Amino acid sequence: MQIKFYQEEEQVPLEMHKVRVVQKLFLRPIEERLQCIKEAGNNTFLLQNRDIYLDMLTDSGVNAMSDLQLAASMRADDSYAGSETFTRVKEAVKEVFGTENVLPAHQGRACENILASALVKPGQTALMNFHFTTTKAHITRTGGTVEELVAEKGLKPQSSDPFKGDFDLKKLRTTIKEKGAENIAFVRVEAGTNLIGGQPVSLENMLAVTDICHDNNIISVLDASLLQDNVYFMKTREARCKYMDLKTIYHLLADHFDIIYFSARKLGFAKGGIITSKDERFTKMMVEYIPLYEGFLTYGGMDVRSMEAMAQGLYESLDMEYISQGPEFINYLAKELNDYGVPVILPAGGLGCHLNAGAFVPDMPHEQYPAAAVAAALYIVSGIRGMERGTLSEQRNPDGTEPFAELELMRLAVPRRVYTLSQLKYVADRVKWLWDNRELIGGLEWVEEPSVLRFFTGRLKEIGFWQEQLLEKFRQDFGDSL
Ligand code: F0G
Repeated sequence: MQIKFYQEEEQVPLEMHKVRVVQKLFLRPIEERLQCIKEAGNNTFLLQNRDIYLDMLTDSGVNAMSDLQLAASMRADDSYAGSETFTRVKEAVKEVFGTENVLPAHQGRACENILASALVKPGQTALMNFHFTTTKAHITRTGGTVEELVAEKGLKPQSSDPFKGDFDLKKLRTTIKEKGAENIAFVRVEAGTNLIGGQPVSLENMLAVTDICHDNNIISVLDASLLQDNVYFMKTREARCKYMDLKTIYHLLADHFDIIYFSARKLGFAKGGIITSKDERFTKMMVEYIPLYEGFLTYGGMDVRSMEAMAQGLYESLDMEYISQGPEFINYLAKELNDYGVPVILPAGGLGCHLNAGAFVPDMPHEQYPAAAVAAALYIVSGIRGMERGTLSEQRNPDGTEPFAELELMRLAVPRRVYTLSQLKYVADRVKWLWDNRELIGGLEWVEEPSVLRFFTGRLKEIGFWQEQLLEKFRQDFGDSL
C-alpha cells in the first residue's frame, strides 16, 4: 500500500522502518580513489571497503538485519548435532514454503554444488531461463552444459513488459523434444533473474514450466535466492496475485517445484543456504553430500547465529512492508536516471538498478569490457562501488574463445534497508555526471585472467590515460568537492 504525499510531485518511497545502528562511512578525495582502483586492478571486487563510500556491489549478505533478527541470533543453540536452532530454521521454512524436508548448506553456491553433484551426469544439459555465474560453473564442473531459454523480451534492455525473466515455453517444449528428457538433468527457474537485471518471472510462467517438467518426467528446480523481490513483482504486476497473500504464493510454488534452493544471503536477510522439497525423494538424492561438503545435517556449514537470523528473516519475507523497500528504492533510482536520459534496464527489477553499459559506451568492443570500464569510472568519480555484469562475468569456452554477454550491464545493487534516499540521490547525481562525460571513458585489458570465475579476482589495466582525464574534468566541474 503506497503512502500518498500531499504534493504529488514530491512523492518518494517511504521507509517503514527506522535505523537504530549506524556505521560510519568515508568518502576519499578523487585523487585517492583513482589510486585505489588502479591498485585493485580496475576490478571493483578488489577494492577495500575503507576506500568505498556506498557499497553497491551486491545485495548478498549485506542487507540490514532487523531488531528481531539480532535478538533471535542471541538464543542460538550451538550443538554439532540436533541443534534447536536448526529446528527453528525448519519451522521457518515450513511456514514460508510449507515444506518439511530441509537441507542446510553454507550459502547458495554450496546448494548448487550439491545439486550439480547429485543430479548432473556428464553430457547432460540443465535448461534454465538464464544462468547465474556460480550455477553454470558447478554444472560445467560436473560435466554438464547449460542452455538458456529466456523469452526474447528478457534481452531487450528497455520495455514495458512486467516479467522479462519468463521462459520461452515453446522453446522449452521443443528443446526437451530435441534433446530427449533423459538428457536433461533438470529445468531451473531463476526467480528475479540476476544477470539480466533482476527481472522477475510471472507465477503463470513458473507454473507452466513445472507442468511441462511433470509431463516429461524432468526435475524442476526453483532458485529462490531472489524470490522475495520476485514475489513483490507478482503481487504488484500480475492480476491473479493481487488478492493472494504472500504465503499463498510461496506455498503454491513449493507445491509445484520438485526442489527449491536459495542463498539466505538474499532471501532471509542473513547468511547461509537451504535446499528444500515437499517430497523427500529429492532431498534423499542430495543428503549424503551435506556432511561431506558442508557439515552435519543440522548446521550445514552455517554459523548458528546466522541460522537464527535467517529463520527470523524468512518470516520477514512474508511482510510486504519489508519486501517492498528494495524494489521501490530501485525503481526510484532507475526512474531518476531514465528521466535524465541515462540508459538503464527497464522496467526496474529487483536486486539493483542496472545501467546499460553497452549504451553508455556504444563504440567500445566487448573485449575491452565496457561494463567493467563504467564500474571503474563510476568508482573514480563517486566512491560508489558497482559490479560488472557483462562479458567479464562470462566464462571462456573450453576452446578459449570468449563468449560476449548479450547485455553489458553495470549493476548498482541496493542492499535492503541499508541506504537512505539522500544517498540514492547522490548516486543518481554522480551517474548523471558520468553520463554527460561518457566520451571520456576508455576500455580495459587483462593483466591477470583467472580461468574460473575470472570476474572475482582478475586484474586489468586501463587502455591509455582516460582515468586521469576523467579526474581532471571532475576537478573542473566540482572544484574541491569530495
Ligand atoms: N543464485 C542466484 C540467483 C544468486 O543471485 C546468487 C548469488 C547465488 C545463486 C549464489 O548464492 O552467493 O550465497 O553463494 N548472487 C550474489 C550476487 C553473489 O552478488 O548477485 P551465494
